[in-house]
Amino acid sequence: MDTTSLRINGARLRATLEEMAKIGATPGGGVERLALSDADRRARDLFVTWLKEMGLEIMIDDMGNIFGKKSGRNNDLPPVMSGSHIDSQPKGGRFDGILGVMGTLETLRTIHEAGLDHERPIVIVDWTNEEGSRFAPAMVGSGVWAGRLERDWVYQRTDVHGNKFGVELEGIGYKGKLPAERWPVHAYYEYHIEQGPVLDRLRTTIGVPKGIVCLHWYDIHLEGTANQVGPTPMEGRNDALCAAAEMILKVNALPAKMGGNMVATVGEIHNAPNSRNIIPDRVHFTVDIRSWDDELAIRAWEDVKRDFESIAEARGCPIRIEETWRVQHTPFDENLVKRVLDNARALGYSSHSMVSGAGHDASYMSQVAPTAMIFVPSIGGRSHVEVEDTRWEDCEAGANVLLHCVIQSALEK
Ligand code: GLV
Ligand code: MN
Ligand code: MN
Repeated sequence: MDTTSLRINGARLRATLEEMAKIGATPGGGVERLALSDADRRARDLFVTWLKEMGLEIMIDDMGNIFGKKSGRNNDLPPVMSGSHIDSQPKGGRFDGILGVMGTLETLRTIHEAGLDHERPIVIVDWTNEEGSRFAPAMVGSGVWAGRLERDWVYQRTDVHGNKFGVELEGIGYKGKLPAERWPVHAYYEYHIEQGPVLDRLRTTIGVPKGIVCLHWYDIHLEGTANQVGPTPMEGRNDALCAAAEMILKVNALPAKMGGNMVATVGEIHNAPNSRNIIPDRVHFTVDIRSWDDELAIRAWEDVKRDFESIAEARGCPIRIEETWRVQHTPFDENLVKRVLDNARALGYSSHSMVSGAGHDASYMSQVAPTAMIFVPSIGGRSHVEVEDTRWEDCEAGANVLLHCVIQSALEK
């Protein structure tokens, strides 16, 4: 069968994305589907319904990863896998993650309708807790599956209310029986919005990442001395929030200080007792450092850690540091990257080679299987926000590139 003229159904892709966007919809036009929340469960249920309609074999592992398998001519061969994540940030967007899952669903529907006889099985996947917003760290579903994170350690991770990951996974009914353990994968594709400004600025349709930057996460806990703000003189205070404030600015200044290509962010802070007339005595904040150069990111951390320790000392606020998570930078498979580029060109779309600054499950997948990603523009470069948006024609274009990449890999003997 000549597949060159095969195209996905853009209207159907849009309809599935719009249907999914109703689950956890926020008043500002985004979605909130935090990992293992009720909204995550409802979106998973709908996803599974759609997989069943196509007659796929459904597998759910003990990390809650959902796989749907479409048989090929030779089911002994390692499958082609494609997918992303259904969970979102708090007040997140309607495209991050879900585009890759629905784009793969649309790819499978197109292949199914065309009656294409492919050699290898094709597996669609929804990875659990890619965001790491409710339960840190991120990408734990793929991380455990790839053998890079310990399942029982992840089960013990807690959200801000002290709820455990393992209990919540069971609670939404998605703790499957199958152990989350990797099996051989012939090729892994992940289709995603760019989440940055590059493609939009260049007015380019398809982004072809050569890999993903490293991601390093840290948790900082500070202790101060609480007291009445009125009678307590300024001298001699141990104000944990002031110590945190100084530290946060050091993080912000880090990329300029270190040089090279790096970003560093404090995005989450918890202050206690959080009363306007009590000197803060407990602060917890997070640090996120990313670079293509792992060594530079580590040197940056060591530098800022020294600053943290001297600020803590000067302010009399004992500090506890957790080195929570590190994922090395990930170069993708050159052949698959070339395939993405070639398909973008063959389909007549403009394309651009780049690096992903956002983390993706493709990071862990790339450590165990040939991997590549396909990006489409984020309007105004905005993501992890309710106004996150991508043109429908770009969603369709990216899915067409995915379709042809998946078909070509699935036809390989
Ligand atoms: C994942 O969403 C990330 O933090 O890049
Ligand atoms: Mn994502
Ligand atoms: Mn995200």
